[in-house]
Amino acid sequence: MKFRANWNTRFGFYFAAIGSAFGLGNLWRFPYIVGENGGGAFVLLYFFLAFFIGVPILIAELILGKSTQQSIIGAIKATLGTGRGAGRETRFKNVWLGLGKLAVATSLFVLGYYAVISGWVLHFFMQFLVSLFDSQGFQSNQALATLRQSGGLQVALASVHILLAIVIVMKGVQNGIEKWVGYLMSGFAVLLIMLVAKSLSLPQAGEALRFLLYPDFSKLTINSLGQALGHVFFTLSIGFGVMVTFGSYMRHDSYVPEAGLRVAAMDTSISLLSGLLIFPILISASVATGGPDVLFQTLPRLFEATAGGALFGTAFFLCLYLSALGASIGLLEVIVSNLGDRWGVSRSKACWAVGFLAFSIAILPALSSSALSQLHLGGRGVLQALDAFLINWILPLVALGLCLFVSGQVPPQTKEKEFHLSRKFDYVELFGNWRMVVRWVGPAVIVVALGLQLIGLFLKN
Ligand code: PHE
Repeated sequence: MKFRANWNTRFGFYFAAIGSAFGLGNLWRFPYIVGENGGGAFVLLYFFLAFFIGVPILIAELILGKSTQQSIIGAIKATLGTGRGAGRETRFKNVWLGLGKLAVATSLFVLGYYAVISGWVLHFFMQFLVSLFDSQGFQSNQALATLRQSGGLQVALASVHILLAIVIVMKGVQNGIEKWVGYLMSGFAVLLIMLVAKSLSLPQAGEALRFLLYPDFSKLTINSLGQALGHVFFTLSIGFGVMVTFGSYMRHDSYVPEAGLRVAAMDTSISLLSGLLIFPILISASVATGGPDVLFQTLPRLFEATAGGALFGTAFFLCLYLSALGASIGLLEVIVSNLGDRWGVSRSKACWAVGFLAFSIAILPALSSSALSQLHLGGRGVLQALDAFLINWILPLVALGLCLFVSGQVPPQTKEKEFHLSRKFDYVELFGNWRMVVRWVGPAVIVVALGLQLIGLFLKN
């Protein structure tokens, strides 16, 4: 019989799921995308979508994994074998399996370019660490310039990152993830709150708060809905099959809806903190909003201007690096567990093969600010173009497919059972609302967002 690991404690699941959700999406991508979309109105849209569309889909992914005890491709197969169409040849079988494969392929591509940004973080961590022992202190402009000029350095850093992820995932779930994520996250949260307090004491903090919290809807563009939705999926790790895999390791008595809500609450709070941290610095230093290096242009300035800043900088970039590593582990884990469940590939072989592919994917975006800086796709550099394509288009598409699959193919009793486990809530009402979002509201919003983006493409040309 196949052995499937279970988390020993309920906290094991939370640590892994929150560890996967919490990453560069919160600290690197959120401020950059909020800057590009004009601030407050976009932030409001993002929070609204995270709770009303993101959480239900997150729950759907967890249920798919928990009920089948398999990763996404296996889960889809197993569901088709026992679901409504059981016995008959289910129509669209290949389309559903294609959906699973698309989710896994997306994970692979994201793992690749995520490694490049993780490499930047690693670089800043090392620079801060060295500056602790250097009388000149930390020089942020220098650190960024070195990265921008040297594609080779970026490739090397990305490969170190991928290698670390491989080593951890090869050791397996319990040993790999559970132990350290919890400690790390609590420490990071405390550090973030301290830094936010410092940032809010900057002279332009009031203006930054206004930018971030006052919703001026005229700043939204035709692409904003898609970008907000894409970011919700990215930051909650939805549409990758990651949460299906994590659901498959959940204990039978865990209550899925509450788990989903908690993950989202933690994750969005961290994003908000990150906005509160970055924008006062950005406005005080007149850095342009938007652009993928916003985090790296702003935060080091705060450290430079603070007593003991090099120490804070070292601690911050270490925590950020470890959370990026946590997220990458989640991505690698999905791909590896799918290869294992579906084709019986051994864990170590799968880790090396996937790691190598991710490394190959990382090369182009790593060179995008140096050797390939002239190459533009749709008006963007390679890294930004890849990020926008995967997150604004592919993730919503996979999430749409998942909604339709869970609504139409997973047996109603299976889904309802997960809501029965509640001791606190009125499960009938909760189940009804969830089902409506996954069947109708979620898909409708996704279709509208993608449609608007399509129109946006034509308007641009
Ligand atoms: N949610 C992660 C972040 O915000 C990204 C991620 C997606 C990680 C999918 C793992 C799996 O950074």
